[in-house]
Amino acid sequence: MATQSLIIDDIQGDAFRVHRSAMTSPEVLQMERKRVFDRCWLYLGHESEVPNAGDYRRRKVGGRPLFFVRSGDGKIRVFYNTCRHRGALICRHDQGNGEIFQCFYHAWTFNSRGDLIGVPDEEGYAQGFDKSDLGLLSPPHVDSYRGFIFVCYDPNAMSLPSYLAGATEFIDLVVDQSEAGMRVVPGSNRYSIKANWKLLVENSFDNYHVAPTHKTYIDYQTSLGVEILPQSERWSAAYSLGNGHAVMEFAATAGRPTARWSPLFGEDTKEEITALRARLVERHGEERTVRMADRSRNLLIFPNLYIIDVAGLTLRTFWPVAHDEIEIQAWEMVPGDEDSRLLRTRLDSFLTFLGPGGFATPDDSEALETCQAGFGASEIEWSDVSRGMHIEEPQSIHELQLRTFWRQWHAHLQNEGWLSAGNPEAAARRASEPVAADDD
Ligand code: FES
Ligand SMILES: [Fe+2]
Repeated sequence: MATQSLIIDDIQGDAFRVHRSAMTSPEVLQMERKRVFDRCWLYLGHESEVPNAGDYRRRKVGGRPLFFVRSGDGKIRVFYNTCRHRGALICRHDQGNGEIFQCFYHAWTFNSRGDLIGVPDEEGYAQGFDKSDLGLLSPPHVDSYRGFIFVCYDPNAMSLPSYLAGATEFIDLVVDQSEAGMRVVPGSNRYSIKANWKLLVENSFDNYHVAPTHKTYIDYQTSLGVEILPQSERWSAAYSLGNGHAVMEFAATAGRPTARWSPLFGEDTKEEITALRARLVERHGEERTVRMADRSRNLLIFPNLYIIDVAGLTLRTFWPVAHDEIEIQAWEMVPGDEDSRLLRTRLDSFLTFLGPGGFATPDDSEALETCQAGFGASEIEWSDVSRGMHIEEPQSIHELQLRTFWRQWHAHLQNEGWLSAGNPEAAARRASEPVAADDD
């Protein structure tokens, strides 16, 4: 299938369009599986989820069943969750703790390093049968950055730090908020939306929709005494970070547990949040503290991990199960040493806004599902994603961050490789500006 026509990217003409078959075609999804999900580094989980020897978590990543476990030597190992005998899932619970993993089918037994240590009635096998050849296998690449564990199924992949490119600066801004390190709270939200997965990529860092779509939440915040400035009147920015990663940042006028107090958090947290901010200034200086404490950010690690650092800190990943259906899983991340009052406030923010029954997620699900339904009018072929293309320093209410995703996505579908950081729109505009005549 030709992908030439799925994007119109006309920087000179300030036009950016996405062909709606990108969202409605099962063939496009098949190509995405090969050219996007089989090539990119994909988020698996966080090291804090398995603090003790034997702790494990089961996940499906890029269509493959996996689990990761902390072995007795302290190392976290990631395995394909399939028995080397005849295929059954070895790990059959989403989480737990175990020194050994026994396949329930014929009881082959593996230790937490993946070695095959037990085969019932081993005499039934010929002499050449070698248990040491039949241990659990790992994806070709597994690595972590500041506790975030990623896997990659492409044997020729670049290293994880190269892949993350400019996104590392923004991951650092999140992780450095706590001296004790960040941890993922046990448990997660899981839900699904009847829409194409790329609509959720767009939606997860699109501040343009916030005022109209989430009016109920804004009214609720206002009723609690929080002053909500329109997005267009707040400081904000959007950046391309290389390899398809992008971020929007914006002034956190409604407060952040780390570390900008708001009436939303209750009077009893004021002192603690103020002290937290002072401590950040001591450790990181005023300028970096402003970035960490007074600004929120929604960071996309291409193709499908969001770190949403707002009134809660949410990790969100999602997978297409069909061209018109997404499964989403979200976790809350908190400072390892957070006081219980503040923790309660933060978890409350997580559920109130981003939880599946909160103010935002049902609104967003509805928006995405109506887009997908709207694509049924197949005579209308293109969606417009050109907002802010003519602007030198785009804000979060523009769509540079969305275009960054789409450009990398398109490059993958065309097998064109990885795109570097920077705003190509601003660069093209500067290049086309007439050079000032020399006064002499
Ligand atoms: S499939 Fe696992 S022991 Fe047979
Ligand atoms: Fe939203």
